[in-house]
Amino acid sequence: MKFFIDTADINEIRQAKQLGILDGVTTNPTLVSRVKRPYIEVLTEISREVDVPVSAEAISTECDGMLKEARDLAKIGPNINIKIPLIEEGLKAVKILSGEGIKTNVTLCFSSIQALMAAKAGATYISPFIGRLDDIASEGMDLVDEIVTIYNNYGFATEVIVASIRNPLHVKHAALAGAHIATIPFSVFKSIIRHPLTDMGVAQFLEDYKKIPG
Ligand code: G3P
Repeated sequence: MKFFIDTADINEIRQAKQLGILDGVTTNPTLVSRVKRPYIEVLTEISREVDVPVSAEAISTECDGMLKEARDLAKIGPNINIKIPLIEEGLKAVKILSGEGIKTNVTLCFSSIQALMAAKAGATYISPFIGRLDDIASEGMDLVDEIVTIYNNYGFATEVIVASIRNPLHVKHAALAGAHIATIPFSVFKSIIRHPLTDMGVAQFLEDYKKIPG
């Protein structure tokens, strides 16, 4: 299973990279807006910082506009893939971009049938947003289970990125569902590692070590 970080904050990306288990970065306009610097500048810095896939979102809602943006964004670096919203115009763009060898991450996916359409269009990645489904009392993880089953049924190469992750349980369930990737906010990245029994155990061992005669 691959771990991506869901952020546009270069310091968070650097810290996650130092852990040695960072497989990719996903951004969106909301995340980039928090950095308060120009869009392309932020994405260029991220693309150069890592040698793993980086998702950069197209803003247009028309196929032609998405294609132009995607081709421009793809020039930032070879690790850039283009986030395209799961709308009709988006699917058209994904099909064309896939033919051009430009990788896509189809985003804002909220149903397994939408995910099937994205895979048929040639999406590199599909991003079901599970936290936002949980927010409206829908089972976000059921969506991931369905997509994984459908993709396995037909052998689609599209990789499932579980997105809109809010807590460590989301990551655990994504792994149990067999999702290829979880894209994880930095705060969750850190909380996954920690366990109070581990901390207590380390403290106890240090204390007991002091009792060993030299
Ligand atoms: O990158 C997209 C996704 O992870 C957004 O998460 O928390 O805004 O629903 P959230």
